[in-house]
Formats: sequence, structure tokens, C-alpha cells
Amino acid sequence: MSRYILVTGGAGYIGSHTCKALAEAGYVPVIYDNFIHGHRWAIKWGPCEAGDTTDKNRLKDVLKRYRPEAVIHFAAYAYVGDSVIKPAEYYRNNVDGSLSLLETMVEQNVKSIVFSSSCAVYGTPRIVPIDESLPENPISPYGRTKLIVENMLEDFSSAYGIVYSALRYFNASGSDPSGIIGEEHIPETHLIPLALQAALGVRPSVDIFGDDYETPDGTCIRDYIHVNDLAKAHILALEQIKKNGENLKCNLGTGNGYSVRQIISSAEEITGKKINCNVTAKRPGDPPVLVSDSKMAKQVLGWEPEYPDVADHIRHAWNWLLKHSGDKNQ
Ligand code: UFG
Repeated sequence: MSRYILVTGGAGYIGSHTCKALAEAGYVPVIYDNFIHGHRWAIKWGPCEAGDTTDKNRLKDVLKRYRPEAVIHFAAYAYVGDSVIKPAEYYRNNVDGSLSLLETMVEQNVKSIVFSSSCAVYGTPRIVPIDESLPENPISPYGRTKLIVENMLEDFSSAYGIVYSALRYFNASGSDPSGIIGEEHIPETHLIPLALQAALGVRPSVDIFGDDYETPDGTCIRDYIHVNDLAKAHILALEQIKKNGENLKCNLGTGNGYSVRQIISSAEEITGKKINCNVTAKRPGDPPVLVSDSKMAKQVLGWEPEYPDVADHIRHAWNWLLKHSGDKNQ
């Protein structure tokens, strides 16, 4: 019997890498994506069902047909800056979509879910590294949508017996080392792909959003987690739910922080190209330092990053970009 897992947003960046990890672990991912940001080329490891998470009839039909063991819920809008300008779209897609999904899961008796949450739920933390005991205090509509869904999961768990794992990602980066899938956002706003595009010459330069933060080189520090390490954590979370039936809210980061300037230098070293930079204004809502305390992921999930060094992420992302830009002639 096939071990189906419904993967909403399975054609996106983290979703597609998780589909590959699921297939390697013996599951069959059923990709549910509305293709607003997902990519057809990223579907390789299971059947695809086009649909929107706000469409309950479509969700019902898909859940009825496949009877998945669990759902992994990635589908969401995820541009922090954009969420400030268009909060309605974020609440509609991220909150309303999650509510429709959860209601349909209850109706169809699918009780396990791994949810793609974010370190954005902490806002600007008082203490770094950030552990799960710190208060949630999101500062963007995006972060608030993630926290609302976490709260919804808690309520659905008490009332209807849903079991959930909310994984709070730090900065996802890199790509599968094979180079067959990777990171492509339209528009691209993330530091590593932008720096690599500048190295490739498809954009003239990369902006550094502020260099007078209270950090050693004045630029923001982030905790970059390899997308395959994130993917692996989802498999562990699924197995954990099955094993102990307990809810979990857990950070996923490596505990290593890198500044914007360190990332750009590392990208120059790996690509062998000079990357032109312009220091510009700070981006509103960017906390100076976001680094995870990753003890809980180790203790509860038995998770360890295979790629704690960001140089590996940049190398894999570069490999993907060279292949992919050739494929698509971009
Ligand atoms: N940065 C630049 N120039 C750029 C792009 C980014 O200097 O052109 C800086 C940002 O200010 C930040 C760092 O590089 O300090 C990383 O920025 P990204 O845009 O790559 O990633 P974010 O930290 O903004 O976003 C990530 C996830 C979000 C999540 C957020 C939590 O993509 O989903 O972390 O803060 F919500």
C-alpha cells in the first residue's frame, strides 16, 4: 500500500526538496500547489494535484482519493516586506487557506500535520540564540499569519485531536547537491541567490541593507539552514508524530550566524567572481541578529544538520544556478 503524504506547496523551494526526501524515505508525496509561486519543473517525486488551499471542495476530493497518512503544509506567501504592503492577501492565503485545510482534514479524518512555520514568529528577540521558550512577538503580517496558524493548530489539537509539528525555520538556503532542483523565487529577494546572480552577471550588483547594525561588521547576522537539512527534519517530525503522538513547536537552524558581508565574501570565493555591492538603507523589520538555539531539534527529533557550514549551501546553490540558468537560458 502506498504511503501517501499530502504536500501543500510541494512545487515550491522547500516543498520540492521535501518531496525528494519523502520519496527517498519510502513515502509518496502528493503535490498540492496552486502554481502562483510553485514550479512545474520541481515536480518529480509524486502525483500532482493543482489546487488552492482555500478551495475546500478540491481539498476534500484530493484527501478522499489518496487518504494520506499525514499532511505537510508549506503553501503560503512568504515575502516579509510584501506582507506589510498587502496584508489581506497574506491573511487570505496563509490563514484562510490553513483553516480550510485543517477543517477538511478533520472532516476526512486525517489527523497528522507538519506545518512550515518561521522564526519570524519571534519578531526581534531579546535574547540570542533564540530558543522556543522566548515569547512570540511577530513584527510583520507574514510572521503574524504563521503565529495565528500555530495557535489554530493548538486549538484543533485540543478540540479535534489533530497532532502537529510546527517547525520554525531560520533562513533556508542551498539546494540539493545533485543540482536537479533548487531555489528560484519570482521575484527573488533572498541574499544568497541574489549574490550568486550578481556573480553570474545576470544582475549588476547586490544591495547590502544597512551596515551600521550593532554587529561585528555592521551588517545583519542570520542562521542559514541547508534546504536538505530542513527537508530531513520534516521526515523526522512525521516519524515523531507517529511514534509518540505529541505536538511540537521547534526551531530549525544550525546555531551558526553569518553576516551579510560574510555571505558575499564566501560567494566571491566559491564562484571566483567579484560581486559588486552597494550599501543601501536598512530594510524595515530586519532584526540585527537571528540565530537559533537548536537543542530542541536535536533532543526531540534527533536532528543534526549535515551541512552546518554555509559555504556548502553557497556551493550547491551555485551549482544549481549554473545548471538551471543553462537549462532555461535565463
Ligand atoms: N539582505 C541584503 N540584501 C538583499 C537581500 C537581503 O542585505 O538584497 C539581507 C537582509 O537584510 C537579511 C539577510 O540579508 O539581513 C537575509 O535576507 P533574506 O531576504 O535572504 O532572508 P530574510 O532573513 O529576510 O528572510 C527569511 C525568510 C523568511 C522569514 C525570515 C525571518 O525568507 O521567510 O527569514 O526573519 F520570515
